[in-house]
Amino acid sequence: MTQRSLVLLKPDAVRRGLTGEIISRIERKAGWQITALELRTLDAETLEQHYGEHKGKPFYEPLVEFMASGPVVAMVVEGERVIEGVRALAGPTDPIAAAPGSIRGDFGVIVRENLIHASDSEESAERELKIFFPGRV
Ligand code: TYD
Ligand code: MG
Repeated sequence: MTQRSLVLLKPDAVRRGLTGEIISRIERKAGWQITALELRTLDAETLEQHYGEHKGKPFYEPLVEFMASGPVVAMVVEGERVIEGVRALAGPTDPIAAAPGSIRGDFGVIVRENLIHASDSEESAERELKIFFPGRV
């Protein structure tokens, strides 16, 4: 089942020089391909669209402020079961609960600065890919 996922390496990953390490973990999965990749600083409108499901929650405002605090690496990753697969590489939202060996488990401590976003379903991927790479996917 070939899928596409929208993956963001968050501002903490870029600031800490971890993008190469994280991209390498994704690239090494058999048959997966990065088909778009761009460094960009996200504006308020993009973040509101992307994180709309969380609007009104207590963590929403600090989350969007953090996500706009520096550039992110936005990517499209394609391959077999890539949606579930990148989520598995990332680990659960809370990095302290994430197992060592996962990206969040290896590098993260606080929930907001958890290094990576990855689409959580085919529907989310479709929606998010349109926001970040309109016309290209
Ligand atoms: P969510 O979609 O629940 O997690 P995931 O990124 O694993 O899909 O939440 C989106 C982001 O919001 C999450 O990556 C980090 C941030 N967040 C907080 O800062 N505090 C929280 O309590 C939660 C649930 C998320
Ligand atoms: Mg989510």
